[in-house]
Amino acid sequence: MLMQDARDQTDTLFQILRPEALYSRPIAERHRLIFYLGHLEAFDWNLICRKTLDIPSFHPEFDKLFEFGIDPPIGQAPSDEPSDWPSAYEIQRYNRRCRQTIDELLNEVPSQIFHVALEHRLMHAETLAYLLHQAPYEHKIPCSTTYDYSDAPSPVRMLDIPAGMATLGQNAGEFGWDNEFAEHQVQVSAFRIGKNKITNGEYLEFVRAGAAPPHFWIQRNGAWLYHGMFAEVPLPLNAPVYVVHAEASAYARWKGKSLPSEAQFHRAAYETLDGNTRPYPWGTTVPDRYRGNFDFHYWDPVDVDANPGGDSAFGVSQLVGNGWEWTSSIFAPFSGFEPFSFYPGYSQNFFDGEHYVLKGASPRSAACFLRRSFRNWFRPDYPYVYAGFRLLEN
Ligand SMILES: [Fe+2]
Repeated sequence: MLMQDARDQTDTLFQILRPEALYSRPIAERHRLIFYLGHLEAFDWNLICRKTLDIPSFHPEFDKLFEFGIDPPIGQAPSDEPSDWPSAYEIQRYNRRCRQTIDELLNEVPSQIFHVALEHRLMHAETLAYLLHQAPYEHKIPCSTTYDYSDAPSPVRMLDIPAGMATLGQNAGEFGWDNEFAEHQVQVSAFRIGKNKITNGEYLEFVRAGAAPPHFWIQRNGAWLYHGMFAEVPLPLNAPVYVVHAEASAYARWKGKSLPSEAQFHRAAYETLDGNTRPYPWGTTVPDRYRGNFDFHYWDPVDVDANPGGDSAFGVSQLVGNGWEWTSSIFAPFSGFEPFSFYPGYSQNFFDGEHYVLKGASPRSAACFLRRSFRNWFRPDYPYVYAGFRLLEN
């Protein structure tokens, strides 16, 4: 992907936002939206121009103000006011100059630095969508792609995965973030895993048995609705439920099961019966929209059985796309971990025992994040991620 394509993705997000909403804060634990308008360019400037090519700054104040996002525990939200932030006009002027300078220098940028900038922006294309999802509908200009949900529930099936190896991590020489290294194999015992992610329909039984409804659900006049990106829709019973880690674990316990570990997920997704490891669950073909719901085609989830072409060698569906999957694994470094010298806090700041690994991808994940070694992580109680789960039985 080119830098311009990634910029188009993030620009699109600011275009669906009505201007009066730019200084709002749809999620209490994140910055106001105006921060992200400056952050994407300030990050590129700091990484490419300041740290890599040693270009003198033209706006040190913005380089600093927009350098880093935040991830405080729930309840410890920042307290700044809209008036603490510069005008959108000033930020856009800064952005134009950053882009222009960077574009003139792009040939001099080492490939690793270029990929870090590109993927950083694409990660924000996803997390900004989470932020905008929480913004009131009147703050957004709808640009919906419609999807016809099926009424027929997909049959619940557990599939056998035989004991064997799982390959985790990234090969030296390939691009990956610091936490993806080094590549290694893990022996995994036999287990059974859900063919599909748990659906809203299945989770509804749990809610009827007394569990609290997930963050993305609303009840009106006795009917359950899904709070979609641009509109509320009748709860799609055959689409994956998006929940926090505690809800996923509680549901699994209620069913006498558990969540897969990171290694078990890898085994179910990428290994084959004859002992080969594949780059994607379906094999080696590059990802396209028939393999799963990712790469910005939809804003919301689709049915759990919508992409049989993406099934793994063991027949497990939608291991990438249609929502990240919570694992039982705490986010921690692999053996051989080395932080990037130019971005030491990227992963290290989150090896605190308070974040869980998620695997897969969501409707708003760029296709590059489908690489096998990519690891996502969030606090277990952060309710705004497009994340669901599937069940595991030992
Ligand atoms: Fe960032």
